[in-house]
Amino acid sequence: GIELGKLLAQTGYITYDPGFVNTGSTSSAITYIDGDQGVLRYRGYPIEQLAQHSNFLEVSYLLIYGELPTAAQLEDFTTRINRHTLLHEDLKRFFDGFPRDAHPMPVLSSAVSALSTFYQDSLNPFDEPNVELSTIRLLAKVPTLAAYAYKKSIGQPFLYPDNSLGLVENFLRMTFGLPAEPYEIDPDVAKALDLLFILHADHEQNCSTSTVRLVGSSEANLFASISAGIMALFGPLHGGANSAVLEMLDGIKADGGDVNDFVNRVKNREKGVRLMGFGHRVYKNYDPRAKIIKKTADDILTKIGGGDELLDIAKALEERALSDDYFVERKLYPNVDFYTGLIYRALGFPTKYFTVLFALGRLPGWIAHWREMIQDPQTKIGRPRQIYTGEKQRDYKPVTER
Ligand code: ACO
Repeated sequence: GIELGKLLAQTGYITYDPGFVNTGSTSSAITYIDGDQGVLRYRGYPIEQLAQHSNFLEVSYLLIYGELPTAAQLEDFTTRINRHTLLHEDLKRFFDGFPRDAHPMPVLSSAVSALSTFYQDSLNPFDEPNVELSTIRLLAKVPTLAAYAYKKSIGQPFLYPDNSLGLVENFLRMTFGLPAEPYEIDPDVAKALDLLFILHADHEQNCSTSTVRLVGSSEANLFASISAGIMALFGPLHGGANSAVLEMLDGIKADGGDVNDFVNRVKNREKGVRLMGFGHRVYKNYDPRAKIIKKTADDILTKIGGGDELLDIAKALEERALSDDYFVERKLYPNVDFYTGLIYRALGFPTKYFTVLFALGRLPGWIAHWREMIQDPQTKIGRPRQIYTGEKQRDYKPVTER
């Protein structure tokens, strides 16, 4: 494939493939997807097994280093992450520059971008010990940054990390805890969030991961590349879909709860009306992550309540769409984000914050891809071609003659 590509480039032919529907941009050994069969595997391990038996830190290790860790490796990995959860005090002040009602995604992206200024040892992407250090710094500090972005938005004081806690528990405490009050972690909440992070941890060459690789292909450092990936995830057709699903369900509820009305608006192709949380570029069968999440949504909403009515609307919407030729013919099934928003809401997160949770989950996948890309001798700077459709050559006219 690579040799054929080189040959075609020499002949001047260009592959025109908007959206890269059929273009392989790289080879990769990280994640396998079979979109027709609904299969997803990280480093060969089925997502169902990882969801049932593993945890987010272990999955992060697996994605980044290629193997499940031994007990000693996992302990060392956890200890190293725990040592880096604190932010530089000056970085905290960074948050004061943003308006209080700012969306947390650009805030998070800016803060991750700023890590390059605080850790200038990170600038050489080929310095392996520093790439390792940047990896640990990101895994440790992004949850702290995300929690601070939340605290800033609600005007509460920041909480320092408590490194006696696990990564997810620490994040929950920094997000929902208060300085003077003990914060009791609900193990069901921590388990649900950990599971959602596992399910989001990687998904091969999606929009944000491709962005991380593209930025990294210019030899920009890890922090810069991840910061760009966070911004690609911000869009409603990608990570922003989890917030958009909840807004859609709220809208259906406000309009009287009739899913038929809404489905008809989608089918009539009303401008800007899509069935959010449905459809996927690669899955043309049920998204295996959505299957796992649907069950979790049922369990968690029964246990801690909140949003039951929206869950009923979501189920009715799914049932209605899956029995309609319009969606069947186009192979549109629920994707990972159809049910996640309901869980995040039940866990106490505001809608605007859902995409940040996706970013926390996707972080190890982005890091794994950036590292794979930087070590791959086949990597070249990403530089797509185009089909020019503009004017042929014209002569300049002074402004008085136009
Ligand atoms: N609602 C209604 N119709 C849809 C939807 C949808 N959610 N998704 C696709 N379609 C239709 C398109 O209109 C098109 O129909 P047509 O051929 O008659 O014009 C057909 O299905 C094919 O759709 P494309 O847009 O070509 O599919 P593409 O692969 O480019 O898009 C995407 C995939 C962006 C995910 C799309 O399905 C979508 O917009 N979904 C809603 C947003 C969403 O849930 N995003 C999350 C994706 S998963 C993730 O990031 C975790």
